[in-house]
Amino acid sequence: MESGAEQPAGQAATQAAGQSSGQGAAAIPAGSAGDLIRSGKLVFDQTPKYASAYVGAKLSCSDCHLQSGTMPKASPMIDLANLFPLYTERAGRVISLQERIVECFVRSENGPPPGTDSQPIRALTAYVDWLSRDGVKGKPYSGRGLVELPELVGNAENGKTIYKAQCAACHGSDGAGMPPAIPPLWGPDAYNDGAGIDQPAKMAAFLQPNMPQNHPGSLTPQQAFDLGAFLHGMPRPAMNPAYKRY
Ligand code: HEC
Ligand code: HEC
Repeated sequence: MESGAEQPAGQAATQAAGQSSGQGAAAIPAGSAGDLIRSGKLVFDQTPKYASAYVGAKLSCSDCHLQSGTMPKASPMIDLANLFPLYTERAGRVISLQERIVECFVRSENGPPPGTDSQPIRALTAYVDWLSRDGVKGKPYSGRGLVELPELVGNAENGKTIYKAQCAACHGSDGAGMPPAIPPLWGPDAYNDGAGIDQPAKMAAFLQPNMPQNHPGSLTPQQAFDLGAFLHGMPRPAMNPAYKRY
């Protein structure tokens, strides 16, 4: 943690950047190290604006990694830096944190891959590093990833009915949302079919504690799987096979 004396400066800078305060946001240090972290938080919260060259979707990292990546069990960034490099099944090899972020660019953001040394990746990595500053090796952070739900089979027809009743008011009957305030769920501006969240079980685990945003935690696991099946069946961009390496 930063000393108390530095906090007001960090806080002012955070407010100046127009950001809601994520966990400990007030303590981002002043100076050039802090500038890179702050710029990473801007990319994280407003990705189509601050990393436009690498984004095809109208989605920010924070639309899925809630509260600027600090919400437990909404796949948070806290303490992640200490876990990488990491073997992942999808990649089938050991990948760096930078490469893991590039995966979300080519899949969830439906863009071309930024180089691992590009400005947005350096800034995002600095932000994730900063959120990992208190990490203690050997004591993993318990909020990592998504919630564990029983393995259920979703019914897309039921999912469609739940969607109309509980989701369409915000995300639209056409699934397009109203970006950037409300992100899209399908159609040309959504994540592509290579995104992790396009898998019904992963979607269910994201939805159950987090959506509907005005009544989080109200979906039963079965309703979350029904929505997962429905959303998986809706049209969305195909992942560019040239980027399958990520
Ligand atoms: C459409 C939703 C979505 C968007 C947008 C998105 N991600 Fe992800 N991200 C996910 C999901 C789902 C996972 C996998 C969670 C799991 O399997 O536990 C994930 C995983 C990750 C991980 C690995 C987390 C871990 O615990 O191993 C990182 C790092 C990451 N995303 C960074 C980003 C960054 C940075 C951006 C913006 C450039 C971004 N993501 C945009 C949905 C998204
Ligand atoms: C009150 C408005 C509101 C309602 C109702 C709502 N959402 Fe959301 N949803 C949002 C907002 C805003 C976000 C962006 C993250 C955040 O700020 O919480 C979001 C994010 C998402 C995301 C991740 C980003 C993306 O676009 O892929 C999914 C998936 C999602 N919502 C699905 C649903 C489903 C399914 C329902 C119905 C059960 C639902 N939402 C109901 C406002 C809403």
